[in-house]
Amino acid sequence: MSFDLSVIPNKNIIVGITGGIAAYKSAILVRRLKDAGFNVRVVMTEGAQAFITPLTFQALSGNPVHTQLLDPEAEAGMGHIELARWADLVLIAPASCDTLAKFAAGLADDLLSTLYLATSVPVWVAPAMNQQMWAAKATQRNLATLVDDGVHVIMPESGSQACGDVGLGRMPEPEELARQVTDYFHKAQRAIAEKFGLLASKHVVITAGPTREAIDPVRYISNHSTGKMGFALAAACYAAGAKVTLIAGPVSLDTPNGVRRINVSSAVQMLDTSMQLLDEGCDVFIATAAVADYRVAEVAEHKIKKSGDELDIALIKNPDIVATIAQQDKRPFMVGFAAETRNVEEYAAGKLVAKKLDMIACNDVSRADIGFASDENAMTVFFAEGYHLPKRDLEKASKQEIAQQLVEAIHDALHHDPAQDEAF
Ligand code: C5P
Repeated sequence: MSFDLSVIPNKNIIVGITGGIAAYKSAILVRRLKDAGFNVRVVMTEGAQAFITPLTFQALSGNPVHTQLLDPEAEAGMGHIELARWADLVLIAPASCDTLAKFAAGLADDLLSTLYLATSVPVWVAPAMNQQMWAAKATQRNLATLVDDGVHVIMPESGSQACGDVGLGRMPEPEELARQVTDYFHKAQRAIAEKFGLLASKHVVITAGPTREAIDPVRYISNHSTGKMGFALAAACYAAGAKVTLIAGPVSLDTPNGVRRINVSSAVQMLDTSMQLLDEGCDVFIATAAVADYRVAEVAEHKIKKSGDELDIALIKNPDIVATIAQQDKRPFMVGFAAETRNVEEYAAGKLVAKKLDMIACNDVSRADIGFASDENAMTVFFAEGYHLPKRDLEKASKQEIAQQLVEAIHDALHHDPAQDEAF
């Protein structure tokens, strides 16, 4: 499963840094959290400043660094109470045994310990210290108290230590800490989406990319589809709370976070997989794949040798996947796509009826700025007559934004009751 580190908008993290040699790793940690899209503010104890300067963290976080509890100037900007309220999560990395002891005892004699008492958001600590200090009864007692108080402890790793000892006490690598924080927010987002998302409790199956039709063991017929629209839709449906299965033709795209991907090659494989998924129970079927209309009638067993000036290859028609699924008894809500170079809306409306779709999104691929390999798209969406929903124009935007609007269109159609229209 690929891990998309770029999808945590507007979450605020306070990184608390205490006195320990692992503080040098916190510079990378702040950097990685920023890369992942978090807003980061850094609070440093006096001990931390003996190892690394606030200036480093100011530059990396893009925010002033907070060091003093009783600094009138700092308190006028963002005092400890505002800081505590600003945060969505407080991560102390590294957490020294002194800081753990202060937290456990409820002391409030510096900014960080005061912040700990003043915040209501999750507090994570990544202890880092000499292995003997880690094993000390007092440290273990304080940790047990903190766990009891609801603090999340990121366990130190074992290995060689800066002091020359070998044992437990090393802070995990900053990338790993950033991954755990990001994962936490992903899971929280997902839990909300599964409950309240536009496609909560729906299973969405999406076909994407081109198909590849073999001519012989080394050659094939295919097209330029990149699969970007289908993959963007898979991510958008997942973010909307759906369980998503992506049937992907040969494309070089990472699987969106949380999405189940089944790779196929030919149109026949794509249809077989679609039928199997229908048996699993599918609520929405979205066909973005650029399926080859024809396949080679007889695939050569061996590589075809160069011979005369011309070569005839007989082609036969491929099954229409979306139309076949639409004919099934357990038919899901069917969404098709139409890429046309002329009479775009007319052809799309024709396909909506001919393929028995519920909704079709069409775009004009004669425009160089949108469609196939582009990162942007513009579309018009039509709904089947029974929905009594007017067509929607989706202005040119990134494929992610278009995908989001398509999710809204699907949701609206799924929840639209035409009987209500007639009442007015
Ligand atoms: O007929 P046309 O290829 O223009 O139709 C486009 C729509 O039908 C798309 O949603 C595409 O994924 C789907 N399709 C399909 N199987 C085919 C051909 C097209 O599912 N063999």
